[in-house]
Amino acid sequence: MTTYADEATTANAPVTSRLFEPASLGDLRLPNRLVMAPMTRNRAAADGVPQPIMATYYAQRASAGLIIAEASTPNAVGQTYPNITAIHDRAHVAGWRQVTDAVRAAGGRMFLQLQHGGRVGHPDNSGLVPVAPSPVPLPDTIFTPSGHQPAVVPREMTIDEIHATVADFAAAARNAVDAGFAGVEVHGANGYLIHQFLAGGTNHRTDAYGGSVAGRIRFAVEVVKAVADAVGPERVGLRIAPGLTVNGIEEGDTGAIYPALLDALADVGMAYLHVVFADPGQPLFHDLRRRWQGTLIANPMLPWPGPLPADGGRREGERLLAAGADLISLGRAFLANPDLVERLRTGAPLNPVRDTGLMYVGGESGYTDYPTLDAVRRAETLSPAAA
Ligand SMILES: Cc1cc2nc3c(=O)[nH]c(=O)nc-3n(C[C@H](O)[C@H](O)[C@H](O)COP(=O)(O)O)c2cc1C
Repeated sequence: MTTYADEATTANAPVTSRLFEPASLGDLRLPNRLVMAPMTRNRAAADGVPQPIMATYYAQRASAGLIIAEASTPNAVGQTYPNITAIHDRAHVAGWRQVTDAVRAAGGRMFLQLQHGGRVGHPDNSGLVPVAPSPVPLPDTIFTPSGHQPAVVPREMTIDEIHATVADFAAAARNAVDAGFAGVEVHGANGYLIHQFLAGGTNHRTDAYGGSVAGRIRFAVEVVKAVADAVGPERVGLRIAPGLTVNGIEEGDTGAIYPALLDALADVGMAYLHVVFADPGQPLFHDLRRRWQGTLIANPMLPWPGPLPADGGRREGERLLAAGADLISLGRAFLANPDLVERLRTGAPLNPVRDTGLMYVGGESGYTDYPTLDAVRRAETLSPAAA
């Protein structure tokens, strides 16, 4: 019979690849160029406190060059969905500390993503009416403890609230460093608050935070600068998703927004820029690469919602490295393969994502129970069928 170990020699050929070369990121030395992309898994307590199972999950994946932990909300009104993590009080810091300690003990390095949901939120999730640049509701339903519900109209943020939110991001970054993270990633992608400010479809403001591209990038720039002032620019990354229409985003002028944003951030000295669904076939990718002198993390454009290619995105990642990216982030391949780096390095086959229904619910199933190659081989050795 063909065993799993036999398949490992045929399904994905072993590779020599820049993916497995070390890299530097600020003060960090990364043993490889594979980054675990941030993935919300809804395993926190209802009040946003990370749970012990999350320490197990992330420690299992500590061989990633860098882990970017899932979206964590910097204040109460920024909460998107039920059971997402938060980082605005001491209990959150203590909960995350268990996670970072476990990852460090397992040899890993970790940033935390800071995400304010803006209009992607619901009073049944946060207890508060969501806030946004303008009162434009999400054109979609939103998940709540009682199932999907129509989105509510968000309340337009006052100037004072904008300033307070910038300060909340900075305080959350300090909390993240107190919790043992090496740094934070500001979430400017995927249709959440910062992206809502960038995009003309969701930002109808006529004050300094809206209107022209210079106005619409102002909030993002202020958040990044405040976070960099709070914890040091070498501890700060920014995630962007140029052109992505997820969560009802209509940017209108993608080709103007992102060059202006990068130019405005050029002197900050951030640790990295992280581009979602990066496509080396698009001129915009090359334009961003030319403008951004620092470390560029690229998240390849893979079939969404799936299925993933058999190599989990390795070849697309290599194309992006060849096109100028420095590090490659993968999401679902890390979700399903705690030892992804080892599997890609040896050319072993990957666990497929088992059940997308388990991505955003509590519990071990589909979370901490994906096997490593070693576990599979041990099971094969013990199984009578393998004899
Ligand atoms: C379960 C799940 C949760 C995700 N949560 C986040 C998140 O919290 N923040 C974020 O920026 N992206 C999030 N994403 C997007 C991933 O970071 C990544 O961009 C996406 O999965 C594409 O990468 P992949 O094709 O390698 O999976 C999530 C994706 C998945 C599958």
